[in-house]
Amino acid sequence: MKIGIAADHGGFELKQVIHNLLISLEYEIADFGAFEKDDLDDYPDYIIPLAKAVANKQVDKGIAICGSGVGAAIVANKLPGVRASLINDHFSAHQGVEDDDMNIICLGGRITGTAVAKELVEAFVVAKFSGGEKYVRRLEKISQLEKLGG
Ligand code: RB5
Repeated sequence: MKIGIAADHGGFELKQVIHNLLISLEYEIADFGAFEKDDLDDYPDYIIPLAKAVANKQVDKGIAICGSGVGAAIVANKLPGVRASLINDHFSAHQGVEDDDMNIICLGGRITGTAVAKELVEAFVVAKFSGGEKYVRRLEKISQLEKLGG
């Protein structure tokens, strides 16, 4: 499984922690930056390429980090086919995949501590969409909305 990861300055340090975690878990990684910390950088510059890679299925899942995780979630969800959510608890980290086929987890580098963030990512990457009829039906309604353009 290939995992994409991206962060602005607000998530820069946490991205390195998560990058190292993914290496230790032997995942293939696509890193969309930032590669240097720049306090003036803009999260869309990193999160949009990650979200495009998820939407195009160049990566299987994505991890998007900014200071709060809010901006990352907002911009990632602009891409059709992306189902991103800001996650702060373990239950939602896997249930969001199992029920909602969440394909990008958003984290707040200034909010979530490294130990918790690592547990959230571990739960997210191993979780699988259940494929249950009612969940597929709900996702189809979202796909229809995307096709209509809102
Ligand atoms: C950057 O200072 C901060 O606004 C950004 O990382 C993020 O929290 C936006 O949602």
